[in-house]
Amino acid sequence: MPGIKSQPKSTGKVYFIGGGPGDPELLTLKAKRLIESADVVIYADSLVHPSIVEFARPGAEVHGSKTLTLGQIMELTLQAVKQGKVVARIQSGDPSIYGAMLEQMRVLEAEGVDYEVIPGVSSAFAAAARLKAELTVPGGSQTVILTRVEGRVAMPPGEQLAGLAAHGATLVLFLSITRMFRIARELRAAGYAKDTPVAVVYRVGWPDELIIRGTLADITPKVRAAKLTLQALILVGGALDPELRQPRTSEEPPAASSHLYSETYTHKYRKARTRPAAARAVANGSGD
Ligand SMILES: C[S@@+](CC[C@H](N)C(=O)[O-])C[C@H]1O[C@@H](n2cnc3c(N)ncnc32)[C@H](O)[C@@H]1O
Repeated sequence: MPGIKSQPKSTGKVYFIGGGPGDPELLTLKAKRLIESADVVIYADSLVHPSIVEFARPGAEVHGSKTLTLGQIMELTLQAVKQGKVVARIQSGDPSIYGAMLEQMRVLEAEGVDYEVIPGVSSAFAAAARLKAELTVPGGSQTVILTRVEGRVAMPPGEQLAGLAAHGATLVLFLSITRMFRIARELRAAGYAKDTPVAVVYRVGWPDELIIRGTLADITPKVRAAKLTLQALILVGGALDPELRQPRTSEEPPAASSHLYSETYTHKYRKARTRPAAARAVANGSGD
C-alpha cells in the first residue's frame, strides 16, 4: 500500500559499521558493542585494522572482503540474515565516504532485510588530528572539500580538480596518491600558490603510519621517494601550515582565531567582556 513501508522479511539484521582509520580506540562504543555481539563479521581487510576484528566473539564467523565480489559478499550476508543472524559489515573510516555501501543497501532493500549504518571516524579526520590541523581556519578557508581525482573512475562534470580548486578551499583527496604529480600541477595551474602547504598521511592509525609534509612545489618528489601507492590521503591548503599553531605576540593581529571564545564577541551563551579595539578607539575619539 502506498506510504506504508514494507516489513523486513528476515529476522536477522545487518549493521554497516564505520571501522575508523585503524586505531581500535577510535571505534565508537556502539561499533565495538555490535562487533562483539555479531554472529557474522565481514570486514574490508585491505583497510580495516585486524585488531578491530579481534572484538568478534569466539565462534563468530569472520570473513575478509578484499578477495570477494559484491555477489559473494551479499550471498554470505543474505544467508546469515535468513537464519536470523546479525551481520557486522565493517567498512574502513566512515562508511558514507567511498564506502561502496549503496550497492549493498540496494540488495538488502530488495530482499527486505533490516539494516542500520553506524558512523565511524573517517581517515580524513583522523589525519587532521594527527597533523594537529584545524581544517577550517578563521580568516582562511571555511570550506573543506572531500574528493578524489579522476583515474579509472571518471569524475562527474563540474567535479574535476581544476574546477574544485577555484574555491581555494582546504582539500582532502582520497584514493589519489599515485597521481601526486598531476594534482600538484593542476592545483598550481588553478591558482594555488606553489608554497601552499600539503600533507600526505599514509595509513593513519596503523603502526607504520607515515606523515610527509611539504608544499605544492616539493611534495611530489617526497611522495615518490617514500614509494607510496595506496592507503594515503593528500591534504592541501593554508590550514595545513604548522606555523598557524605558533604563539602570536600581543602586537600581532589575532590571525586565525575564532570569534567563538573571543572576549569581544557576544553570542547566545556569553556576553562580550570588552569591546573590539576598533570600537573602543572610535568611542575614545581616536579611531580613523
Ligand atoms: C575506499 S576509500 C575509504 C575511505 C573511508 N571510508 C574513510 O572514511 O576514510 C579508501 C581511501 O581512503 C583513504 N584511507 C582509508 N584509510 C586510511 C588510513 N588509515 N590512512 C590514510 N588514508 C586512508 C585512502 O585515500 C584510501 O585510498
